[in-house]
Amino acid sequence: MTEAQGLTRRALLVGVGAAGGAGAMFAAMGALGLAPGEETPKPRFEPPQRSDFRLTGRAAAKVIVLGAGVAGLTCAYELGKAGYDCTVLEARDRIGGRSLTLRGGDTVTDASGETQRAGFGDGVYFNAGPGRIAQWMVTMDYCRELGVPIETFVNNNASAYVYNQGMAAPVRARTARADLYGYIAELLAKATDTGALNRRLDRDDRERLVEFLRRFGDLGERLDYEGSPRRGYTVNPGLTEGTALPSPGSLADVLAGGIGRSVTMDFGYDQATPMFQPVGGMDGIVAALARQVGADHIKTGMAVTKITDLPHGVEVVCGQTVFKADYCVAALPPNVLAGIPGNLGADVTAALRVPRPVSAGKIGLEYGRRWWELDDRIYGGVTETDLDITHIWYPSHGYHSARGLVVGYYATDENAVAYAGLPHRERLARALAQGEKIHGRKYREELLSSVSIAWERQPHIGGGWVRWPSFTGGFELLRRPAGRVYFAGDWLTHLIAWQAGAMESARAVVTHLHRRVLSAPS
Ligand code: ALA
Repeated sequence: MTEAQGLTRRALLVGVGAAGGAGAMFAAMGALGLAPGEETPKPRFEPPQRSDFRLTGRAAAKVIVLGAGVAGLTCAYELGKAGYDCTVLEARDRIGGRSLTLRGGDTVTDASGETQRAGFGDGVYFNAGPGRIAQWMVTMDYCRELGVPIETFVNNNASAYVYNQGMAAPVRARTARADLYGYIAELLAKATDTGALNRRLDRDDRERLVEFLRRFGDLGERLDYEGSPRRGYTVNPGLTEGTALPSPGSLADVLAGGIGRSVTMDFGYDQATPMFQPVGGMDGIVAALARQVGADHIKTGMAVTKITDLPHGVEVVCGQTVFKADYCVAALPPNVLAGIPGNLGADVTAALRVPRPVSAGKIGLEYGRRWWELDDRIYGGVTETDLDITHIWYPSHGYHSARGLVVGYYATDENAVAYAGLPHRERLARALAQGEKIHGRKYREELLSSVSIAWERQPHIGGGWVRWPSFTGGFELLRRPAGRVYFAGDWLTHLIAWQAGAMESARAVVTHLHRRVLSAPS
């Protein structure tokens, strides 16, 4: 938008507001595309319903869904609303796919054959896969619809730490932010009267900018950053005014800490606070979907060995068992699907091999004392670090209870590969050695139990998520059915690594399949 257009719009809105009041102004803003809510018009998803068949004389079809992860279960749930006869085949011995919550007594077996048994106490759980949901995601709609209670997930906690290898010691996120914002604000404020900025901004703009920067960085009279109460205290205010932290290091010291990534972690659209989690564990969502689909429609331990698209149906083979249906929805990771024999075509197989699996892994560390609350006054949130553990998550639930579980690493790519290659005992030793640099000896000494997961070593999954080199070609091809076989999963959306992606993909498949059934010659 040019300045002239901006002024014209502003002038128009001021005029509309004066003449017609706030309601008229809001309506005018809507017409101009400026009102909140106008920015994300969403195509409405219409779930299939039994009544859709009443006038057409057709019947709901039989569908085999491969994979009881979020995408597969959402497909079966939505199709079930119209009476489709769905059978969900799951290769693993439990449903949920990557939406995995581990509790005391649960086991997890690696491709190497190592089995870990979670020794967690009552009420302690570990979201080994997805752990947070953004407010705008369709996952929230499913939580509402399915009656899955949610609570806040603390994604950004000023009291959590930032620790990078360039730093002498960990600092609180609030201190790191105050110093970085303070010095940046000082630099920019002092540059507003010079050179390029002087040419770009008129006097009023410069004054407004300085006014903003003064607040942004908590600058002094002379636009210096000399520290700020925002950094925190060694003695909190109370009966006394408290004792502020000593003055910040120099700008060079702050920059040397390399905290850019740490202080911008929640700036992304998908990571903005507040975020949410199901009460009691992320698998509450897949459990609720599975209840709706019905246990008799879900078969675990069924690894697919062949998929055949036929002129009038599909055939799916699992070892000695043959399933026949009208349609199939393959809601498996592309790397797994690519290895299953069938007749879907060389172009489909080639496309399935394009997205590369991304390594991702986590470790859950159970403690018998919630020292992060008691000693560090951290209630939920994430410590950011450039150590290979990348993040430490503190639990956003069970505050003040006896035990609790900290996620000791949530690593991806090469960091995850480094942990994945180790047996659990060594993953634990490495994670404790790193976390100790931030939290000291209690991090090791007070540990009760632990479980780790390396998603690329999980049978029938083979990765945390995938990365496409480009969202064209194979990506587009697989968003269309191959004959009577559809593909679904987060990997076919622009919300990769989110349950919302799996759900959006499932909805798109369900919509297409249902239209096709309704319009098929009867
Ligand atoms: N959805 C993943 C996360 O929140 C990538 O970390």
